[in-house]
Amino acid sequence: MCGIIGYIGDKQAQPILLNCLGRLEYRGYDSCGVAVSSSGIEVYKDAVRVGELAKILPQLDGTAGIGHTRWATHGEPSQVNAHPHCDCTGSIAVVHNGIINNFQRLRRQLISEGHNFVSETDTEVIPHLIEKHYDGNLEKAVEAALRKIEGSYAIIVVMAGEPKLVVAKKDSPLIIGIGDRENFVASDVPAILGYTDRVIYLEEGDIGVVTADSIKIRQAGAEGARKEYKISWSVEDAQKGGYEHFMLKEIHEQPKVIRDTLGGYISATEPVDNLAMMTDTSLEGMLILACGTSYHAGLVGKYIVEELVGIPVRAELASEFNYFRQTLAKTGAIAITQSGETADTLKAIKRLKEVGCRVLVITNVMGSTASRIADQTIYIRAGPEISVAATKSFTAQLMALYWLALSYFKVDIKRLDSLIMGLRQLPSKVQQVLDNEDIIVECAKYLSGYKDVFFIGRGINFPVALEGALKLKEISYIHAEGYAAGELKHGPFALLGGDTPVIAIVAQDNTYEVMLTNIREVKTRGSPLIALAEEGDEAIGELADLVITVPRVEAIFSPVVNTVALQLLAYYTAKERGCPIDFPRNLAKSVTVE
Ligand code: AGP
Repeated sequence: MCGIIGYIGDKQAQPILLNCLGRLEYRGYDSCGVAVSSSGIEVYKDAVRVGELAKILPQLDGTAGIGHTRWATHGEPSQVNAHPHCDCTGSIAVVHNGIINNFQRLRRQLISEGHNFVSETDTEVIPHLIEKHYDGNLEKAVEAALRKIEGSYAIIVVMAGEPKLVVAKKDSPLIIGIGDRENFVASDVPAILGYTDRVIYLEEGDIGVVTADSIKIRQAGAEGARKEYKISWSVEDAQKGGYEHFMLKEIHEQPKVIRDTLGGYISATEPVDNLAMMTDTSLEGMLILACGTSYHAGLVGKYIVEELVGIPVRAELASEFNYFRQTLAKTGAIAITQSGETADTLKAIKRLKEVGCRVLVITNVMGSTASRIADQTIYIRAGPEISVAATKSFTAQLMALYWLALSYFKVDIKRLDSLIMGLRQLPSKVQQVLDNEDIIVECAKYLSGYKDVFFIGRGINFPVALEGALKLKEISYIHAEGYAAGELKHGPFALLGGDTPVIAIVAQDNTYEVMLTNIREVKTRGSPLIALAEEGDEAIGELADLVITVPRVEAIFSPVVNTVALQLLAYYTAKERGCPIDFPRNLAKSVTVE
């Protein structure tokens, strides 16, 4: 997820582009750039934040231009991979938000036709394709180029000597801000607030030509009018997309994040190549290392890989591993880290490499330290996660672990097909959880008055109990503990009673019956009980005080829907208690110290 901006009007474009880009940094901030058009095109870009670029930028003359702030997906954050990207002549510049799945094939073809590429990005094929099809009509050349592209895009194109911006949208957001003798094009409303409150939202497949005093939109060759909206948000509100907190916005982004993350793997031409550790039959085990929420994802990964691949897996806290653990020889290692900068996890990666272990990293941030020291990196596509409490990165990490296991799943094709089908259905299943917030809000109101809360789960949902407790602790400041349900009777039972509610994760798997027994044991000790259960579960209603119903999925996928429900429960409980949800006390988004 990147942020793009375009301006054409009667004012100098540079200061406007920089100001609008600064407001889009919540979409990505690892590098940025601008191109200003007058008789020629001047491009300045680097792996810096917008504020730094503004300091080093010379005065660029021109009343039309484009800009980009990046969240790298193809090609590390660097000066050459930053946008805008140009054609061979340097007269066509493009900024792009999205992912081009067939870029490698297009690139090979264009190189064979003499085009010279300078970056590792997927985006760079666009200006070269436009150049290839240009015969005096920029709009037509853009249209021809887009017919060759598979994937998602929101683009803005500027060409030297052409007093217009050509824009197009498919599976990525793009808006036009209508001004007086000027117009704006942007990924999102926050960018242009303060300049205009009149906005048009482009629709799928739209191609538009924007000049200082006109906006023409066509779709499939036909002119089309788009409804104009009047925006009344503050900039900060708009960055949250109308949600009250980044955390709620990020929770609601999960269907898209799951689709994007899976899309990146399933469209990948080759499974993770030479991932020797997964096929090395001499392997005696696998080690997953991480911290916090990423560790909980790793624990779920242990269940996934052991069930599907049959390799014994250890999931360990990186901070513990670093001081006490000896690595077993013949151990393959996976390190999971959203930020890619967590000190404990980086230290563990270095330790493993020192003893000759190959380390695969699952991370959300391209160019992060972890991705640079890893032997192999699998990226999730969660986009920037602003809220300190990790939510969408957790489900995206699970997608990486499912895909990893499925890539080395050596059993019958029918089972593989049903598992892939189950994965593809997850975005809509998660959407069902998001659409069923009311009961979760009610449970949150109920929970918000308590000081201590337990979460219990079994099997693949034990780590979900840990994650549910962590989310509640982090943002509502309620003391919460996650337990394997079978453990309660070995001690924690002593803490049960009317003032300690228990949240039980009840999955329709081989633990169902014994879970009901544990729930009865909790009830007899007087604790209020909230059950998280699958739709159609008749029995649970008789036992629980409140029931949060989640859609039916295969047991191996239940951690995804269950965790989203518990993220919402933590969010609404914290909201009920008036906590500073996005930036809770004493915590940081990336813990770069031991
Ligand atoms: C989770 O909500 C917290 N932000 C924290 O536990 C986090 O998961 C942990 O610090 C690990 O971060 P990482 O994934 O960036 O390495």
